[in-house]
Amino acid sequence: MEYLKFCFVFSCWLKFANSVFTETTQAPAPIPKEKLLVLTVATEETDGFLRFMQSASYFNYTVKVLGMGEAWKGGDVGRSIGGGQKVRLLKEAMEDLAHQEDLVVLSVDSYDLIFAAGPEEILKKFQQANHKVLFAAEGLVWPDKRLADKYPSIRSGKRYLNSGGIMGYAPYINRVVSQWDLHDNDDDQLFYTKIYLDPLKRQSLNMTLDHKCQIFQNLNGAVDEVLLKFGTDRVRVRNTVYDSLPVVVHGNVYTKMYLNYLANYVPNAWNYEHGCGHCDEDLIDLSQLNEYPNVLVGVFIEQPTPFLPEFFQQLLTLDYPKDKIKLFVHNNEVYHEKHIQKFWEENRNTFHSFKVVGPEENLSQGEARNMGMDLCRQNAKCDYYFSIDSDVMLTNRQTLKLLIEQNRKIIGPLVTRHNKLWSNFWGALSLDGYYARSEDYVDIVQRKRVGVWNIPYMAHVYLVKGSALRNELKEKNHFVLEKLDPDMAFCRNAREMTSHREKDSPSPESFHMLRPPKGVFMYITNRHDFGRLISTANYNISRYNNDLWQIFENPVDWKEKYIHPNYSRIFTEDYTEEPCPDVFWFPIFTEKACDEIVEEMEHYGSWSGGKHEDKRISGGYETVPTDDIHMKQIGFDKEWLHFIREFISPITLKVFSGYYTKGYAVMNFVVKYTPERQAYLRPHHDSSTFTINVALNSKDTDFQGGGCRFHRYNCSIDSPRKGWSFMHPGRLTHLHEGLPTTNGTRYIAVSFIDP
Ligand SMILES: *[C@@H]1O[C@H](CO)[C@@H](O)[C@H](O)[C@H]1NC(C)=O
Ligand SMILES: *[C@@H]1O[C@H](CO)[C@@H](O)[C@H](O)[C@H]1NC(C)=O
Ligand SMILES: *[C@@H]1O[C@H](CO)[C@@H](O)[C@H](O)[C@H]1NC(C)=O
Ligand SMILES: *[C@@H]1O[C@H](CO)[C@@H](O)[C@H](O)[C@H]1NC(C)=O
Ligand SMILES: *[C@@H]1O[C@H](CO)[C@@H](O)[C@H](O)[C@H]1NC(C)=O
Ligand SMILES: *[C@@H]1O[C@H](CO)[C@@H](O)[C@H](O)[C@H]1NC(C)=O
Ligand SMILES: *[C@@H]1O[C@H](CO)[C@@H](O)[C@H](O)[C@H]1NC(C)=O
Repeated sequence: MEYLKFCFVFSCWLKFANSVFTETTQAPAPIPKEKLLVLTVATEETDGFLRFMQSASYFNYTVKVLGMGEAWKGGDVGRSIGGGQKVRLLKEAMEDLAHQEDLVVLSVDSYDLIFAAGPEEILKKFQQANHKVLFAAEGLVWPDKRLADKYPSIRSGKRYLNSGGIMGYAPYINRVVSQWDLHDNDDDQLFYTKIYLDPLKRQSLNMTLDHKCQIFQNLNGAVDEVLLKFGTDRVRVRNTVYDSLPVVVHGNVYTKMYLNYLANYVPNAWNYEHGCGHCDEDLIDLSQLNEYPNVLVGVFIEQPTPFLPEFFQQLLTLDYPKDKIKLFVHNNEVYHEKHIQKFWEENRNTFHSFKVVGPEENLSQGEARNMGMDLCRQNAKCDYYFSIDSDVMLTNRQTLKLLIEQNRKIIGPLVTRHNKLWSNFWGALSLDGYYARSEDYVDIVQRKRVGVWNIPYMAHVYLVKGSALRNELKEKNHFVLEKLDPDMAFCRNAREMTSHREKDSPSPESFHMLRPPKGVFMYITNRHDFGRLISTANYNISRYNNDLWQIFENPVDWKEKYIHPNYSRIFTEDYTEEPCPDVFWFPIFTEKACDEIVEEMEHYGSWSGGKHEDKRISGGYETVPTDDIHMKQIGFDKEWLHFIREFISPITLKVFSGYYTKGYAVMNFVVKYTPERQAYLRPHHDSSTFTINVALNSKDTDFQGGGCRFHRYNCSIDSPRKGWSFMHPGRLTHLHEGLPTTNGTRYIAVSFIDP
């Protein structure tokens, strides 16, 4: 009790007893919540402001907005001070309120701030602070570092004043702000700081700071102190250093993105019990509209992309009136011109309009994206701009409608690389503006947390409101910024809070002021399964039908394109036939697979001619030669063997139960039968444990005759089905012959498996 040494014991005891007394036994009656008025200055209804108002209305705060519609004069990003306009507006407002002695005023910023609890709690904490005026505190001194020493020292907690949050009785707040006689672009925080640092004023105005974040949590310099605390109905922010649950959470200076992350949960945006709390608010009901909105779809083909024809088919199957869609395609690849030409010929009249900018224009990616966005921006009738890259396979036909209905300025559907954590958004940014993993990234990608998420970066596919393009995003050239990737440039421009000036003036000070951030929130929704991202890596376009080689890189798309749609029924409902004993017949390839394999072989063109001498095989002699091309010759053997292991082996196990194939084969080839060259094959055994024989084209359409005869059973299959395969034992029991093709050309793909 050092204190006692310095004063008269008795009077000290009195003071001491007095304070104990008031706190324990004479706790003042709670301030009624009607006595709280929130004042905030906002000159524009930014996304951040609307979010602030949403959280305020959720807790039934009474809010008065000052300055709406006024031009902002409170300082610019390039300057190091500002915010005076806020004090001036507050001063004007307080003149009318000063006489209400029991009114408690809470003056807060609104562009980057949310409430985490309601009026009762904040009033109770204010009473416990036992002062007339309370300011938010932070650990960094600003704007004048030289003032640091003048601050009263404290044992723990945050020492310095932050003007983003002020709470106090109306007459006292009035006495503070009525001292203002500076300019709109002078600094508000400096003004308050000087009053606070004056010991006399501090005492007479009965001011203090919220040192331990009971009420105000400034995130700047404190990101590591806070955690989300999930409750059954609400989510809060917990300060782990002071073990407090702050009521007002402020994403000041560099921490706006972190606030965006917290606000994805706090107060009721998402929790474990109820999931998304605001996903169904403010929806647009398309069925209630007389007409569907006009959408400009910008398609960007910036690199060779597998499955491009399928990509266009997905666009075509989108459930949206095509006469409401204008199509703008930027194609940067000569290789894809044939695909676009074909789609254009078939669909040029399907859409309201169809414009293609090809590689000959030599546009950079950024320029092309600017051009597409501009087309929507400049046309007042363009309601939405839907940008989609060629590597996005939208499998959900409702995607466009669902995005429109969600009613956000910028929103993308989550798409991910199959079985990977790779997706089209980032949950957080590193300090240098690149990818950083947010705590919730994996859960969002894997759809363990489902909702609509405010995120700092997205790419590949997103919808932007035309009205936003003509307002907040009205500046052109969003996609070209320094050396950034075009999508990073766009997102940075949309977030705007850290414009490129950040690099010129790296001190946090220069971002302290309340320049109204026009930052547009970007959202990603994972409320539905929308589709996937294709890998464009290792796409070798030196072949004829290059997608055939994609079985490793894009297995899902490969399967969808090439494996027969009824293939899976082999396993679910015994979808095999047995036309001859131990000869099983099943669907394996789509028509496309058959056609592309044949095309690939004809493109290669070096058929063996059916000669006995064969340099391609060991020994160099073939007793029963066919007119063929080996898979190896076209560089397709690795892919073909993978196909056998993935798609044939499971069937083997099913029809020859107990036999586990190694899925190994040396002889994999396509045979060509024509009356002009080789029409049939004499009876023979295969050098295999079992053989597959896939019909690659159609009897009667492409050829006549053909088929296969198994001698031991006097059994023929003379109507092969395109895309279907036989599987039969190779030796001993199944002596067989190829029946003559009498007209046209017949193609089959054959593998001798487990030789
Ligand atoms: C806000 O007021 C409404 C209507 O009076 C009430 O139903 C609701 O529970 C209140 N919200 C909170 C968080 O107290
Ligand atoms: C500040 O006001 C409270 C009551 O609101 C009072 O109890 C306290 O003594 C005052 N403090 C000073 C330093 O005047
Ligand atoms: C295309 O543009 C790049 C850079 O803008 C330029 O270096 C190149 O020469 C241009 N090519 C043609 C064919 O115009
Ligand atoms: C692409 O395939 C060709 C064979 O068609 C091959 O010669 C070439 O090395 C491949 N390129 C790459 C980059 O793998
Ligand atoms: C798949 O099976 C169904 C029912 O047997 C049939 O109607 C359909 O045509 C088959 N699909 C193909 C592509 O053959
Ligand atoms: C083979 O079957 C055909 C009918 O499919 C029959 O006419 C013929 O006699 C049979 N041959 C033998 C050797 O059983
Ligand atoms: C062979 O097929 C062609 C067309 O594919 C047809 O015009 C011709 O009549 C056929 N010949 C015989 C002998 O069936």
